[in-house]
Amino acid sequence: MAFIAVVTGGSGFVGTEVVKQLLEKGYTVRATVRSTSNKQKVAHLTALGDALPGKLELHEADLLKEGSFDAAVKGVHFVFHTASPFFRTVEDGQRDLVDPAVKGTKNVLSAVAKSLDTVKRVVLTSSFAAVVKSRKGPTNGKTYSEEDWNVESSVDDEPYRYSKVAAERVAWDMAKEHGFHLCVINPSFVLGPVISSRTDATSIDVFKAFIENRDDSGIIPWIIDIRDIGRAHVRAAEVPTAQGRFLVSNPMTVSSKVANKALSKAFPNYTFPPGKDEPPKVVIDNSKVLKELGMQLHPVEETFVDMARTLIALGIAKPVKE
Ligand SMILES: NC(=O)c1ccc[n+]([C@@H]2O[C@H](COP(=O)([O-])OP(=O)(O)OC[C@H]3O[C@@H](n4cnc5c(N)ncnc54)[C@H](OP(=O)(O)O)[C@@H]3O)[C@@H](O)[C@H]2O)c1
Repeated sequence: MAFIAVVTGGSGFVGTEVVKQLLEKGYTVRATVRSTSNKQKVAHLTALGDALPGKLELHEADLLKEGSFDAAVKGVHFVFHTASPFFRTVEDGQRDLVDPAVKGTKNVLSAVAKSLDTVKRVVLTSSFAAVVKSRKGPTNGKTYSEEDWNVESSVDDEPYRYSKVAAERVAWDMAKEHGFHLCVINPSFVLGPVISSRTDATSIDVFKAFIENRDDSGIIPWIIDIRDIGRAHVRAAEVPTAQGRFLVSNPMTVSSKVANKALSKAFPNYTFPPGKDEPPKVVIDNSKVLKELGMQLHPVEETFVDMARTLIALGIAKPVKE
C-alpha cells in the first residue's frame, strides 16, 4: 500500500525537499501551501509531482486559521510539520514569528489528534535555535546534544529562536496529551541545492548575497545540507525505533573562508567574498542521527558548490566576474 503523507509548508526550502524525497519513494504527498493559485510558490511542486513516481496533491492551509489543516491531515499515515516563518528581522516578534509558530503547531497537531486512527507518526521541524544558547556556540568546551534546550531567548531577544523553542515545547506537550508518536528534527543552518525559484527563504537570501560577492556576514558557522535534512525527516518517520529529538548538523563549525575556497575552485571565473578564516571547533554531537537514523552527511564543500550551481542555473543568483 502506498503511504499518504502530509507536508505542511510544502512550498518552503525545507518542505520542498521533504516533498521531493517522499515523491521519489512513491508516497502520496499532500503538500500544504497558503495559496494554490500562487504559481511562483507551487510551480516547482507541480513539476516534481509530474516527474516523480509518487502522487502530489496541493492543499490550502494557514497556520493562523483554526481547523485549517484538518482536511489535509485526515486519513494520512505520516505528518511532516515544516511550516513556520524563518526571518531574522521582523517588525513584531510575537505577531510575525511566535504566533504563527505556536498557533500553527497547535492547529496542525489538533488535526493529528482528530486523525489518530490513521496517523502513525508525526515529524516536526524544529531547529538548532531551540537547542543553542549562544551565537558563538558552547563557551565551556562542551558540545551541544539533544539534551540541551535554549532557555535564554525571549520574544524580545531573538524572537525567531524563541518561536522555535515555544513551538517545540507545545508539540511535546500535545504528543503526550494525545498519545501520538512524535520525532523532532533540529537542523542547524540549512544550505544546499535549491529546487524552487523563490528567493524569500533566509537560507537562500544569505547564500545569494555571498555568491554575488555582496556580503559574507550571514553565513552561520553550523551548517547542514538540505538533502540530509530531507533524509532525516523521512528516516525519522520510517525507522521503527526512531524517537525523540535529532540534532542534524555537521559537528564542526565551518568558516566562511571554507565557502570561498570551495566556490573559487568550482567557479574560477567568479569572485566571492574572501570570508573569515576561523579554526573549526566541535560544537555539536550528531552521533544520534548518524547511528539511529543510519545517516551519512554531505561534505560542506559539496553543499556550498551544489547550492551555488542551482542558484546560478535558476537565475536566482548572479555571480560577479573577476
Ligand atoms: N533554513 C534553515 O536554515 C532552517 C534551520 C533550522 C530550522 N528550519 C526550519 O525549517 C522550517 C522551514 O524553513 P525554511 O528554511 O524552509 O523557510 P521558508 O522557505 O521560508 O519556508 C517557510 C514555510 O513556512 C510557511 N509559512 C509561513 N507562515 C505561514 C502561515 N501563516 N501559514 C502557512 N504556512 C506558513 C511558508 O509558506 P509560504 O510558502 O506560503 O510562504 C513556507 O512554506 C521552519 O520550521 C524553520 O524554522 C530552517
